[in-house]
Amino acid sequence: MNDQELFEAVMRVRENAYSEYSGFSVGAALIDDEGNLHVGCNVENSAYPEGTCAEANAIASMIAAGRRKITVIAVAGGHKELENCTPCGGCRQKIAEFADKNTRILVMNADHEIEEFGSADLLPRSFHLQH
Ligand code: THU
Repeated sequence: MNDQELFEAVMRVRENAYSEYSGFSVGAALIDDEGNLHVGCNVENSAYPEGTCAEANAIASMIAAGRRKITVIAVAGGHKELENCTPCGGCRQKIAEFADKNTRILVMNADHEIEEFGSADLLPRSFHLQH
């Protein structure tokens, strides 16, 4: 699956976002180390802090499927039209948990251009426990 096809999956799942409170709909799609696709959208809640981000839900889908490594994750979001939506701080840490130095983080910006980052670009000196 190429980057364009990955963003088609992002846009499809973004349609399902439950963003009743912010009106800001986000989609995320990732490919694991076996080449499987996992998608997620943000799911808000009337108790606001209970909402979950699109990236977190895509990662949860990957873990539930038994995989542990993100090769590429793509994200796009906005109120209606796309806006600049790089992963939030918490999602940067969640991505870092399952990333390595080759993991690609792709964001489609408000001009529909794809921007690419590494995990350490978005979260330098991230926290890891030895296990
Ligand atoms: N959101 C995400 O899903 N991912 C991000 O990286 C940024 C923010 C969601 C959370 C909330 O439902 C809405 O966007 C507005 O913050």
